[in-house]
Amino acid sequence: MSLTRMEEPAGGAPAPGGQALANGPGGAEPLLKLRGISKHFGAVQALYGVDLDLPAGHVTALCGDNGAGKSVLTKVIAGIHQPDHGEMYWEGRRVHIRSPKEAASLGIETVYQDLALADNLDIVQNMFLGRERMSRFTLNEDSMERAAAETLAGLHVTTVRSIRQPVATLSGGQRQAVAVAKAVMWNSKLVMLDEPTAALGVAQTRMVLDLVERLKGHGLAVMVISHNLNDVFEVADRVAVLHLGRMVAQGWLSAFNRESVVDFMTTGGSTREVAASGSNQRRD
Ligand SMILES: Nc1ncnc2c1ncn2[C@@H]1O[C@H](COP(=O)(O)OP(=O)(O)OP(=O)(O)O)[C@@H](O)[C@H]1O
Ligand SMILES: [Mg+2]
Repeated sequence: MSLTRMEEPAGGAPAPGGQALANGPGGAEPLLKLRGISKHFGAVQALYGVDLDLPAGHVTALCGDNGAGKSVLTKVIAGIHQPDHGEMYWEGRRVHIRSPKEAASLGIETVYQDLALADNLDIVQNMFLGRERMSRFTLNEDSMERAAAETLAGLHVTTVRSIRQPVATLSGGQRQAVAVAKAVMWNSKLVMLDEPTAALGVAQTRMVLDLVERLKGHGLAVMVISHNLNDVFEVADRVAVLHLGRMVAQGWLSAFNRESVVDFMTTGGSTREVAASGSNQRRD
């Protein structure tokens, strides 16, 4: 992929005045919109008035150096942390996400690299954990097995030998695939993946990136946290860059190149031509 893609952003012409370009084609409201989100832990201010838009049917890459606030922002959306200030809008409606359960009921699923699955349980048990199907007083194993198999097949996850194999025996990429399939099965609308490919080899990374594409194809909003600019430029439609708790740039991928993303990540600004095209949101 070229480093300086300059074609028109998918959402139309760059917005004047440095506004975030979040609306999907046709100017639709983003699925999730954050405005002015702040969060501190004691003396540490982790987030300063962060704005973020996550449109449906698009992949947004959340980038930033270590400690930039990516995981804290993800946990605010996932209902694990409560923001000190700011507003969240889900499908245009103001919401307060007070717990992971409330996030799940809206249709928000988070896939963490290591914490997502229970090692000692098999694939079907993991996918239905806490939401088991019952027939009278017993588990409806056939129905759960069928749904799990169909979901995996629908996502073209074909490398697992048996859906009854314990998750401990899966490769890192297969684990990610099961975690993503679980999110899809529960009719999620937003899936957030925190460093999904950090520990993966080339083939497994390929599989996870393909899955991300498929989620997008199903019309979901996807947020991918990544340090890996190859991944970002391969799957993202939009880029959002945090620097020391501030959202320093946000826009369609075509407004960035690798160098400008690195500039924003490391210094909070960029003077590069592509990034200065007016389609990024700058906050000082
Ligand atoms: N529970 C917490 N208590 C206190 N400080 C925290 C807590 N969680 C995060 N922080 C602080 O908030 C800041 C942002 O942390 P965060 O984990 O979001 O970074 P990150 O962008 O995810 O970094 P990395 O790329 O290393 O995962 C850091 O200074 C961190 O020390
Ligand atoms: Mg993190």
